[in-house]
Amino acid sequence: MKIVLGPASSQLGRQIALNLQAETVPVAFKTFPDGEDYVRLEGQVEGEDVAIVQTTNPPQDPKLIQLALMADSAKRNGAKRITAVVPYLAYARQDRIFLQGEPISAETIARMLKAAGVEQLITVNVHQENVLSHFPFPAKSVSAVPVLAEYFVKKGHAKAFALSPDKGAVHIAEEARNVLGGECGYLEKKRDRYSGHVSMEMKTFDVKDKTVVIFDDIISSGGTIVAAAMILKELSPKGIYVACVHPLLIGDAEKLILQAGVREIVGTDSVPSSVSKVSLASLISRELAQ
Ligand code: R5P
Repeated sequence: MKIVLGPASSQLGRQIALNLQAETVPVAFKTFPDGEDYVRLEGQVEGEDVAIVQTTNPPQDPKLIQLALMADSAKRNGAKRITAVVPYLAYARQDRIFLQGEPISAETIARMLKAAGVEQLITVNVHQENVLSHFPFPAKSVSAVPVLAEYFVKKGHAKAFALSPDKGAVHIAEEARNVLGGECGYLEKKRDRYSGHVSMEMKTFDVKDKTVVIFDDIISSGGTIVAAAMILKELSPKGIYVACVHPLLIGDAEKLILQAGVREIVGTDSVPSSVSKVSLASLISRELAQ
């Protein structure tokens, strides 16, 4: 197998290649003055199984185009099989029509990748697993929650309370609890589909004098975590920490979360950021080796 180092995830790609003892294919890339993207694979892929590692965090559109262009190039140059490794899969949250007139964006992206030559996709903690049923080729989401929870165990927070800020994502808190060995719970979140405003309902659970780790798949504006931290503070925990798979951290998100009383934010390198303290390299390498 050869690992194509997509410009958005070159460091992660290099680590995956090291783990698998696979050859890397560097990618030359640039943006033309008019904003169009250009890529060129600087290595041979003929007859090879190829994994293109490219996340699609903001600005997601040029990264998706780069991914499609890399796949097209790999296909034209005779790659045997093309797997897209897309740790953060953009547009996955629009996996159905919420308001009349909307597209199913996830499906549009899936079709675009198929047309470019992608034959298999590996992603990490996709927002809703059912989005993958829109993909016209095998697509799998692996979970980084256990490795995030292990980070907290190593830091001395075994038995911490794992909290999901949304009932729909309670499975994430449950998965974390299985590693942390404590309890878990959830809050009830409501988001206004027009304004984006997040409100949260208080739940009764006992976190007094306990360490709480809020687990979420994505931190975007930070609104969800800030709302959860505000509620938690009323319950007098010992400390509040945050773990997230995809730290998009748009605008002042990091600052707002810390100001809300969170002691530490821990993310993965799904999205390279100031809080990417946990690497997905081993998880993805294991998946590619199967
Ligand atoms: C939504 O359901 C996700 O699980 C995250 O909670 C959400 O995307 C976070 O967004 P924000 O940081 O803007 O509240």
